Amino acid sequence: MIAAIKDLHQHVGQTVTLQGWLYNRRDSGKVAFLIIRDGSGLCQCVVSKSPETEAFFETARRLGQETSLRITGKVIANEKQIGGHELEVSGLEVVGESQDYPITPKPHGIEFLMKNRHLHFRSRRQWHILRVRSTLVDEIRGYFNRNGYTLIDTPIFAPAAGEGAQTLFEVDYFGDPVYLAQTGQLYVETACMSHGKVYCFGPTFRAEKSKTRRHLTEFWMVEPEIAFADLNDVVNVAEDFICSIVDRILRDHREDLEFLGRDIAALERIRKPFVRMTYSEAADLLHSDKAHKMLEADLEAKRARAEALRKMIADKDAESNQQGVKQWKKDKLVAEVIEHREELEEVETEIRNIPHHMELAANFEWGKDLGGSDETIISRLSEQPTFVTHYPRAVKAFYMKKNEQDDRIANNFDMLAPEGYGEVIGGSQREDSYEELIAQIDREGLDRADYEWYLDLRKYGTVPHGGFGLGVERTLSWLCGLKHVRETIPFPRMMGKFYP
Ligand code: 4AD
Ligand code: MG
Repeated sequence: MIAAIKDLHQHVGQTVTLQGWLYNRRDSGKVAFLIIRDGSGLCQCVVSKSPETEAFFETARRLGQETSLRITGKVIANEKQIGGHELEVSGLEVVGESQDYPITPKPHGIEFLMKNRHLHFRSRRQWHILRVRSTLVDEIRGYFNRNGYTLIDTPIFAPAAGEGAQTLFEVDYFGDPVYLAQTGQLYVETACMSHGKVYCFGPTFRAEKSKTRRHLTEFWMVEPEIAFADLNDVVNVAEDFICSIVDRILRDHREDLEFLGRDIAALERIRKPFVRMTYSEAADLLHSDKAHKMLEADLEAKRARAEALRKMIADKDAESNQQGVKQWKKDKLVAEVIEHREELEEVETEIRNIPHHMELAANFEWGKDLGGSDETIISRLSEQPTFVTHYPRAVKAFYMKKNEQDDRIANNFDMLAPEGYGEVIGGSQREDSYEELIAQIDREGLDRADYEWYLDLRKYGTVPHGGFGLGVERTLSWLCGLKHVRETIPFPRMMGKFYP
């Protein structure tokens, strides 16, 4: 009987066949321990030398990592083993051989892993992350479907900019230039005048010339749009939406988060109301003593960590060079030193950057957009996500609604995820006045002719409306507690990186 590893609890005492790949192997001469993964989990399969296993025992001892197999045996409950079960092997069939698999259990540099991304995501950590992604996408759709939104698929080929001309990817469209969609928003705005509440969800493209932990050139974004809504209504939806995402991931993915070393308590604390502050208040916060003290404490902690890492590296180097150290011990020490060196490099970069971030925050001027390090600071000062509202219009997109009291600012918001993750949602009320919108299109130097259709919404039954966009990768990065968005998407596209 074929069984999936995740279902082994139903088969204790029975003989089943697993179909999968060899994840890891060790042997003691008389017993070979094969860790098999089948896409649903991991299971240790024990091949003992006996007349019954004679035909394949030597094969089992020599299997290469990632060989595909069918392996048959009796299911034994064993709390101590991965997944809580073990297989007492009585049959083994090699399906596809694998020799010299490039990604070994030893640490590899990130460059190498990304070049081998097609294989890299077989590894455990990546497997856990992409499982959470699958559920995140399901919850995004589920939330809007349950709450009366109609899905509207928006085009990928767009005739004009939606979010600023600097980040357009141009495509030759039978001799005419068109652009890969930076947003589906302008189109869902048209659809919300037909359905009331709508959303689009798809790949989004930005020619971002930034090599940061937050930027991809191709990412996935969901964008709800609501008719008869003002800024506050939209913020309330975003807050409710985030709560439902966090609840669902905590419910279905605790084990994955544990594996990833996520601080689960920090996610469990997420609940309404989130923090709300205006851009001007955020600017004050950046100038505050509180922000300054936090960064000073960071700097001290990082310096101490760097010192500790240097000492560990020196000690382990010395130990591994001593005479008579067993080879396995030497390998282990060398692998640990590689990891410490990688961490040290990161910590040293932070030590160099923190003073610069302190300076940027202290000298933040009203009118500038919040930078990545500013967002990091603000979002670390609270356990809850932070809504920053009412940015200066000059640094935001042309379609945002002008504030009625102060025409320098827009009725918009960004939602910053806590723990330093920064912006995961951007949204706004939309400019619903024909005259104002024309003025903004002109001010931005955009071509009116490109936006005739969009302007029509303001001519034929305009209503207050608004929405937001949530980026899947940044959200997943926060949920899983990752340092970089490159691990959150199966095949990341970044500046200078598009292979495989
Ligand atoms: O703030 P943004 O640019 O907003 C819009 O595109 C609006 N049209 C949304 C709307 O109101 N309907 O992008 C929204 C979100 C960001 O908060 C971020 O999560 C994600 O999209 N995002 C990126 N993610 C990864 N890499 C990039 N280069 C991203 N740019 C934006
Ligand atoms: Mg934004």
